[in-house]
Amino acid sequence: MTGPLPNGTSFLQVEDLSRIYPSGEGIVTALSPFTHRFPAGLTAVVGPSGSGKSTLLNLLAGFDRPTTGRVLAGDTDLHRLSEAGRADFRLANYGFVFQNHNLVTILTALENVEFPLTLAGLPRRERRERALALLEEVGLGARASHLPAQLSGGEAQRVAIARALAHNPRVLLADEPTGNLDSHTGERVLALLTAQAREGRTVVLITHDREVAALADHTLRVRDGVVTVEE
Ligand SMILES: Nc1ncnc2c1ncn2[C@@H]1O[C@H](COP(=O)(O)OP(=O)(O)O)[C@@H](O)[C@H]1O
Ligand SMILES: [Mg+2]
Repeated sequence: MTGPLPNGTSFLQVEDLSRIYPSGEGIVTALSPFTHRFPAGLTAVVGPSGSGKSTLLNLLAGFDRPTTGRVLAGDTDLHRLSEAGRADFRLANYGFVFQNHNLVTILTALENVEFPLTLAGLPRRERRERALALLEEVGLGARASHLPAQLSGGEAQRVAIARALAHNPRVLLADEPTGNLDSHTGERVLALLTAQAREGRTVVLITHDREVAALADHTLRVRDGVVTVEE
């Protein structure tokens, strides 16, 4: 497990990154060539639907391959790794939070949070302790043995955040994590994400919410695949 970098240090950067998709007879430029260093802290990604926000996040995660350019995470060129190498790298360095919590329905809250630690090979007792501590951190210590179906949407999303943080990732990528939550619950989820950013993680958060974007240290505005950095 690796800790976050000191504030101000950049772990994640992209160079000349672009993505073109075939579309019918033609093509869609989902992301025009973009070069950027993601500073530690919270970067909000804003822009209308279909502008290329998820495309950018999927490239940062290595879920999708760029048409040009590269993603550097530390010294690693993400797309030069093999598929399996990338999966391992992701497991060691990235946490994800999506609009839907994507919890495993047959596992309890505690088991869901433990899951990435199992993959990382942590002994059972340490796993349990860390998972429980994380559930307590997101205010759900008392829900450890609940199944996802027994949790509210906001609780499930907080479990998903605890899971995303289990292996202490340097990078946290969130694609509209509050999109399905009421505003009060959404605020609680966002407070957890901003707290992570303050600890020096690189948090990249796609959001429609202007108030959320106002909390961010940095904002990227995406329009028709073109990303601009707002100071
Ligand atoms: N896998 C894909 N194949 C073809 N076109 C895609 C694919 N993913 C996204 N697109 C297109 O790329 C553009 C940007 O999409 P997306 O990144 O999902 O936008 P956003 O997340 O901002 O709503 C859209 O025009 C979308 O239709
Ligand atoms: Mg999207």
